[in-house]
Amino acid sequence: MAGAALPAEYLCPSSLADLMVQQQPPKFLQMGSPQVPPYLLGLRLTGRRVVVVGGGRVAQRRVPTLLAAGASVELVAPEITPSLEGLRDRLAAWHPRPYRTGDLDGAWLVQACTDDPAVNGLVAADAEAARIWCVRADDAEASAAWTPATGYVGETTVGVTSDGDPARSAGIRDAIVDGLRDATLKARHSRHKPTGVALVGGGPGDPGLITVRGKQLLAQADVVVADRLAPSVLLDELAPDVEVIDAAKIPYGRALHQDKINELLVEHAKQGKFVVRLKGGDNFVFGRGGEEAIYCAAQGVPVTVVPGISSSIAAPGAAGVPVTHRGVSQEFHVVSAHVPPGHPDSTVDWEVLARNGGTLVLMMAVERMRLIADALMRYGRATDTPVAVIQDGTLPGQRAVFATLGTVADEMTAHGVRPPAIVVVGEVVRVAAQMGNLTADIGRDP
Ligand SMILES: C[S@@+](CC[C@H](N)C(=O)[O-])C[C@H]1O[C@@H](n2cnc3c(N)ncnc32)[C@H](O)[C@@H]1O
Repeated sequence: MAGAALPAEYLCPSSLADLMVQQQPPKFLQMGSPQVPPYLLGLRLTGRRVVVVGGGRVAQRRVPTLLAAGASVELVAPEITPSLEGLRDRLAAWHPRPYRTGDLDGAWLVQACTDDPAVNGLVAADAEAARIWCVRADDAEASAAWTPATGYVGETTVGVTSDGDPARSAGIRDAIVDGLRDATLKARHSRHKPTGVALVGGGPGDPGLITVRGKQLLAQADVVVADRLAPSVLLDELAPDVEVIDAAKIPYGRALHQDKINELLVEHAKQGKFVVRLKGGDNFVFGRGGEEAIYCAAQGVPVTVVPGISSSIAAPGAAGVPVTHRGVSQEFHVVSAHVPPGHPDSTVDWEVLARNGGTLVLMMAVERMRLIADALMRYGRATDTPVAVIQDGTLPGQRAVFATLGTVADEMTAHGVRPPAIVVVGEVVRVAAQMGNLTADIGRDP
């Protein structure tokens, strides 16, 4: 646990004899003073009764955390917010009435968070009489216990209090949590270093679009096996002693290449190193993550899967193209176009896709777009169906080309579109134009 900065008197401890001869107790020993440092504990609440009095915004923040800690939460409030309403199944009970003395019987902890100080005062007084710890949301000074600003990083819980200053506590908490997550704050000892291989989805390219869990595991890796489309900025942030293997540069043919990657993952994991397999997007979306997971498992290497944000959704979204839109498209199909229609290796039924009115999201399609557009039109998709092509989605060089099925191949050539790019075919592309008009209007004089 990380505590707040302690008062100077505390940091320069006097001997007990010194304390005894002082005329006045030092500030931090004055009971009731906000400068008395709280004694931080990690309460293990599983199955224990916790009473929350109040059903407003404060309760809405406290209840989910208490439930996540396993507490048996009873809510006392005449009315509750819709979010709390949504948690009703997980509550031990909700008493839809005002607080009554006696409600705290058998409780280990109480949260007094009504918007009425008199009620909170009564709850606190009842709790004090029954020797139950009570957190008063409205009056830190009168509260027997404080809720620290809390953050979670893997198996670590960070709690911060700062002399009743919640904004400062939250700021310090954020700094510690961020530092632990991106490994700028080094935790020297960890009893829970991960083992085996983690298949981590790096997201579509912007380094901010990897998941928190993915970034945590990356910071703990001994070896990172990365692909061409894995966000390269994330690799630059790794500690110098992390071995980075650029899987895209292994000089073998395609099939052997994947075999070699599988072997590398297992070989390093069996040496006791924690291996992260970092790919662009999500490892299970045209990322061969399934093959790697099966190979590792067959070799007795534990596998962790951390999903990533797939470029199939993120790149269109970043260009303002929603893959579904109410009243326009209630389905989207993500298709690998690494082989063209009619190719013996193709398992895609382009005829069905052409007849279907939903959104088509085409990956690895750049070099084959003319053949694909021709096939879709031949099987019945209208020539004027709108199409968007998004190159380098979410990356600094992101650009989008808008066309129709009839013109897209020529437009792509004219604009020099290069992989990686996503092609979206369907009426949802018109929604991007609507959004573009809206955002263009923002700030304009009426
Ligand atoms: C082998 S697939 C990998 C897909 C990845 N696993 C995912 O979920 O995003 C490679 C294709 O993903 C698409 N792609 C990946 N990153 C992209 C980006 N930043 N912008 C546009 N397309 C991207 C391109 O169609 C590219 O040819």
